[in-house]
Amino acid sequence: MAHSYILGISAFYHDSAACLLKDGEIVAAAQEERFTRKKGDASFPKHAVEYCLQVAGIRPSELAHVGFYDKPLLKFERILETYLGVAPKGFPSFRMAGPLWMKEKLFTDRDIRRGLDGYEGPILYAEHHESHAASAFFPSPFEDAAILTVDGVGEWATAAWGVGHGNDFELLKEMHWPDSLGLLYSAFTYYTGFKVNSGEYKVMGLAPYGEPKYVDVIYNELVNLREDGSFELNQQYFNYLTGLTMTNGAFDKLFEGRPRVPESKLTQREMDLARSIQVVCEEIMLRMARTVHRETGMKNLCLAGGVALNCVANGRLLREGAFDHLWIQPAAGDAGGALGVAQLIWHRYNRAPRTVTSGGGDGMKGAYLGPEFSASSAAACCVRSRNCSPKKRWSAGSTGEWSSDPARLGRAVFSAIRGAPGCRRR
Ligand SMILES: [Fe+2]
Repeated sequence: MAHSYILGISAFYHDSAACLLKDGEIVAAAQEERFTRKKGDASFPKHAVEYCLQVAGIRPSELAHVGFYDKPLLKFERILETYLGVAPKGFPSFRMAGPLWMKEKLFTDRDIRRGLDGYEGPILYAEHHESHAASAFFPSPFEDAAILTVDGVGEWATAAWGVGHGNDFELLKEMHWPDSLGLLYSAFTYYTGFKVNSGEYKVMGLAPYGEPKYVDVIYNELVNLREDGSFELNQQYFNYLTGLTMTNGAFDKLFEGRPRVPESKLTQREMDLARSIQVVCEEIMLRMARTVHRETGMKNLCLAGGVALNCVANGRLLREGAFDHLWIQPAAGDAGGALGVAQLIWHRYNRAPRTVTSGGGDGMKGAYLGPEFSASSAAACCVRSRNCSPKKRWSAGSTGEWSSDPARLGRAVFSAIRGAPGCRRR
């Protein structure tokens, strides 16, 4: 019997990736940055696609379906409406973004087909948070679970929650642009001198060195937080609607200083800012999760979206949240959308049943879904690069402190709290 192959793709924003399913099972998944060595590479995931097809030993023409992790037209609608809503402010930003959309991003179909020579089947598009939710629920070890997705922004949604049963799920509520926990955190990432959509983990890592001295200012001026975890951001202090930066002069005035120059010396101020936004992020995540628990009555929670990469907040959800078990998609950022849309096509579009992995494990194979390298090829590379002494660190047949495991999809930050089944609440 012929097998059914589905390729999922995320691309053109950040963290491009590809994932291949064979009869619903993940056979390979990889992020483009692992091949190109460009962190967060946003280009079409040519190498990742090639790798996935090579693992399965198939050509693009043998794919049954190809899926893309969000809907570019809806995203463009949001961008256009935002510019129209703030005009004439925002023109410099529109002048930069507009041509890029006109020339490239609106032609996703064309670009995917160019990258998949010989593929003539359909290209299916899922909404951004549907892809995140699918990546959170389908590979989880739960037959039934609540789902919470939180990120910067997809098309319009910035957070969503819903319920999954068996081979499908439904998202019941969304929070919308421009109110976004991911963008709030990214604003502080920018202000403390780190790269947005990349350095957020550094802010999280900096937090324990600081004091939460700006928490009250954040609640009083920036975030109107409600009991259920929903909130409004005071756009008077942000610049992402109209400009090329995350924050503006009013934000500088509020925190009494300009943004830190990237790579300049870190001071106690940045540490205090990091601690403060981390505390607020954790509180919002806790309130959101408690609301989802109250509304769904579920025991299990699945998480995805870029904010679900904040493992310190996840730890608090585990210790203080209302759910008995948590499962977090290791590739919780947009790379995981490639996996999500592929599984969405398999289970929702094809109506294929879903089998929960027995014994409490998940369907991610430890997230070791990328290319593997033999110990000898890694040692040869090491010698070529002259960056280390292979004699010191390698011995024949030993893995030593080097890994010859397949590359992981997603961030290793989750390994500390992932367990089976899911993560048990202490
Ligand atoms: Fe996302």
